[in-house]
Amino acid sequence: CKENTLSIIKPDAVAKNIIGSIISRFETAGLIIVGAKILQLTYIQASEFYFEHQKKYFFDSLVNFMISGPVFVQILEGNNSIQRNREIMGATDPANALAGTIRSDYGYNYTKNAIHGSDSKKSAIREISYFFDT
Ligand code: CMP
Repeated sequence: CKENTLSIIKPDAVAKNIIGSIISRFETAGLIIVGAKILQLTYIQASEFYFEHQKKYFFDSLVNFMISGPVFVQILEGNNSIQRNREIMGATDPANALAGTIRSDYGYNYTKNAIHGSDSKKSAIREISYFFDT
């Protein structure tokens, strides 16, 4: 079914000047970018966005990394876009990501893993409305 998902190109990938290389992969896969903006997140915004992880040991480093530079936030539309985006991204830890995925090619470690994508329909709806008015 046609659905939207939220994708964030993280500060490590924005700093490497590879926004275009990453969004090309979505376009090649037939996902449509129907919303996009570059933002400098505040500590509060990043903490709220990742509230599900607030008790985890990596929360503070995750939030500090996410505010270390601008991010590119986008809405991807397409059939099964949530699952397909997850396949294109690869596993969270770049060391475990399949060859040819974004995290395998551009990620460095668990924190500097190039990209975020919504993990379910419920989080896609919350995450899109967190950043976009639509
Ligand atoms: P992301 O898809 O943005 O969702 C939550 C983020 O937390 C995840 O990518 C990783 O960058 C980070 N993360 C998840 N698990 C760990 C972990 N075990 N150690 C460090 N960072 C993690």
